[in-house]
Amino acid sequence: MVTRHQVLVASNRGPVSYTVGERGELTAKRGGGGLVSGLSTVKGDAVWVCAALGDGDREAVRRTDGRLDPADTGGQTVRMLDLAPEVFADAYNGIANSVLWFVHHMLYQTPLEPVFDTEFERQWRSYETYNAAFADALAEEAAEGAAVLVQDYHLTLVPGMLRERRPDLRIGHFSHTPWAPPDYFRMLPDDPDGGVAAEVLRGVLGADRAAFLTQRWANAFTECCVKLLGAEVSVDDDGEMVVVHEGRATRIGVHGLGADADFLRERSRRPDVDERMAALREQIGRDGDGNARKAIVRVDRTELSKNIVRGLLAYRRLLDDHPEWHGRVVHVAFAYPSRQDLAVYRDYTAEVSRVAEEINAVYGTEDWTPVVLHVKDDFARSLAAYRLADVALVNPIRDGMNLVAKEIPVVSDHGCALVLSREAGAFAELAEDAITVNPYDIGATADALHRALSMDAGERAERTKRLAAAATALPPTAWFTDQLNALRR
Ligand code: F6P
Repeated sequence: MVTRHQVLVASNRGPVSYTVGERGELTAKRGGGGLVSGLSTVKGDAVWVCAALGDGDREAVRRTDGRLDPADTGGQTVRMLDLAPEVFADAYNGIANSVLWFVHHMLYQTPLEPVFDTEFERQWRSYETYNAAFADALAEEAAEGAAVLVQDYHLTLVPGMLRERRPDLRIGHFSHTPWAPPDYFRMLPDDPDGGVAAEVLRGVLGADRAAFLTQRWANAFTECCVKLLGAEVSVDDDGEMVVVHEGRATRIGVHGLGADADFLRERSRRPDVDERMAALREQIGRDGDGNARKAIVRVDRTELSKNIVRGLLAYRRLLDDHPEWHGRVVHVAFAYPSRQDLAVYRDYTAEVSRVAEEINAVYGTEDWTPVVLHVKDDFARSLAAYRLADVALVNPIRDGMNLVAKEIPVVSDHGCALVLSREAGAFAELAEDAITVNPYDIGATADALHRALSMDAGERAERTKRLAAAATALPPTAWFTDQLNALRR
């Protein structure tokens, strides 16, 4: 057995993924999303264990006999697991993204969904196999007493499985999503002998410390442990909650991942971003008086929980209720395709385009396109939009944190008013200087957009400064180090 690393990280998506070109060449792409941003500083002796996501990744795994060339991964040592494609598809598309993601984000339209039948049972077995493969790899890579930080809803069973294999390890689990309240969570198959709901909770409780992005999600987790497992909760000398179940204690932590100000400020001042700003300005255009039009910006994966369609409807309502904005504002919406293997995501992507086109058809004029929608992922263009935004619209129906809400104030050139959903994790830290909304309420969101557009420049700049300070309170390096220190305590 090779036992080497003192620090290990495990997540479904690693820091890079690969695509195979027409001539068989591999192209590496940095992973997106909050998890990868948070862990981007994990370097040195640490190893990052992740899954091969598609053909490109599998090809990369084959070429290097199970380990990638660290040069390709930006200095990170990566071990990519080459799982059977059907096991990966069942675990990732089936259980992780169609069940656990839906439960934690409360996305089911419950009269028809969910349906837990034979397909679910097969997918659940794959999820167990997939989690066991991670536990095996981590057990093999970890030095005696090493710290292992397991990430997210894809890997809820790993802490328990790893503890059985290696009781000497310090194991942490971090949830990057919300956690569902008990009445919703118990929708998962559950019976007096255990069931899936109990298996997930027990899996996470295999950790020495389970951590969350906000106190709200941490509380929901402990409530599930109490109501579904009969666990007990107390508070330790450091003020952290502790869940005790079957004689084992798991500490509960909260670490609100912040934006990486140094990286963002440097990256957003590069020439490729300037070029894209010029192109966007051109697309946004000028109003009848020759002034730059105001820009309401949103940047999201095309993800059901991001509430992009209601955001567009609220913008439409703004144009209905406030004709004074006609020709003076543009909604710049970046909605990057996500999880396109799932029909419900494909349908949602189509609906976003349909509603955007409808608004343009109803209100657009020869020299004014009310909605500029981009669907091709381009990080430099996202940063360009961050810089020129007058208003940022972040209106998820439920979100673990939402880093966009934290990144825009940091990068903004001239101050940006933030319209923020009370259901985003970021609300806990940014509510004071944002205009907050109930994400289901179209009229209230339209009013909030109007208020944000009408805010005077001085107030906007002041609020943006305070938002940026709150957004960067816990940058990724500190976020990671704090967890490591707490785990070793
Ligand atoms: O937990 C949330 C998360 O892992 C984010 O980091 C990221 O935005 C998203 O989920 C990634 O989803 P996927 O890997 O399915 O694209």
